[in-house]
Amino acid sequence: MAAVWRASADPAPPPVAGEVVVRIAYVSVDPGMRGWITPKRSYMPPVQPGEVMRAFGIGEVIESAADGLAAGDWVTGFTGVQSVATLPAAMLRKIDVSQIAPQLYLSGLGMTGYTAYFGMTDIGQPAAGQTAVVSAAAGAVGSVAAQVARLSGARVIGIAGGAEKCAYLLDALGLDAAIDYRAGDIAAQLAAAAPGGIDVYFDNVGGEILDAVLGQINRHGRVVLCGGISQYGDMDSVTGPANYLQLIAQSATMRGFTMRDYLHRIPEAFMALAGWHAAGEIVFREHVLEGLDRFPEAFAMLFSGANQGKLLIKV
Ligand SMILES: NC(=O)c1ccc[n+]([C@@H]2O[C@H](COP(=O)([O-])OP(=O)(O)OC[C@H]3O[C@@H](n4cnc5c(N)ncnc54)[C@H](OP(=O)(O)O)[C@@H]3O)[C@@H](O)[C@H]2O)c1
Repeated sequence: MAAVWRASADPAPPPVAGEVVVRIAYVSVDPGMRGWITPKRSYMPPVQPGEVMRAFGIGEVIESAADGLAAGDWVTGFTGVQSVATLPAAMLRKIDVSQIAPQLYLSGLGMTGYTAYFGMTDIGQPAAGQTAVVSAAAGAVGSVAAQVARLSGARVIGIAGGAEKCAYLLDALGLDAAIDYRAGDIAAQLAAAAPGGIDVYFDNVGGEILDAVLGQINRHGRVVLCGGISQYGDMDSVTGPANYLQLIAQSATMRGFTMRDYLHRIPEAFMALAGWHAAGEIVFREHVLEGLDRFPEAFAMLFSGANQGKLLIKV
């Protein structure tokens, strides 16, 4: 990876008006970073070689030259993969860590959770009596999306790699069925788990799994395109869904989104997710590695499936 991370020995420049210095506590490691270092048209400009790698983070303000933020306040936003940073306060959101563990603001109560919430409720719109399928369901976004669908009353099938993750889907997340996509014919496993077809598909992976689901999408079904991690390894040869004609046959829709569409509605997602979490109706799982020097190793884990939940680095 050409972009770099900055060691704690590097001094952060003193803040000018409107800026704060933040001691970063946790950095989020996201599959989307693959796109952020790819020089292709996307929803954000690519990170350039030599720049600090873009990342969501949380931390404590240690010096402030900005109205509304003081030393001791906690903030979240694009902090970058670094330990101390001087950042514009306008790029940061103040968070309350008195009742909530800080790392949750990068996990289920942060962008990860909000992405799952809006993708599932606004686009997927599952309802009681319907069947929803979520891929990468044991992962950060997928595990929240699957639980949001379960809370809507839908029957939920999670797809994940390996027996251990499938057991997690059933035992910890309370899903109705789990499919191990590494254990053979995905279409056959889907047909067995969803004999009445699929009404909502929350797609995190693309590729073969997307095709298998499209082959079983119901009339007026909704496919939520959140991510396509199976395609991120070679961004020059992304393979689209061969089964897309099913969308015509079933009057179904397939819609992509990013959190950019929903920034104005963050308080709604936070209230819903925090309420479910406090009531014990939804669980979040973080996988924490210590030390910024583990960033390359952490990033690779997302693609091998070695992460178990929201992948974070404790700085
Ligand atoms: N649209 C948005 O605004 C937005 C925001 C955040 C994330 N996303 C997308 O959401 C997806 C999940 O992100 P996350 O942060 O929650 O990561 P995550 O699910 O916690 O980790 C990635 C998981 O993807 C699975 N995976 C990796 N390669 C795969 C492959 N070839 N085929 C099938 N599954 C594969 C692995 O799980 P298994 O062990 O189960 O294989 C891995 O643990 C990504 O596609 C990401 O780009 C989109």
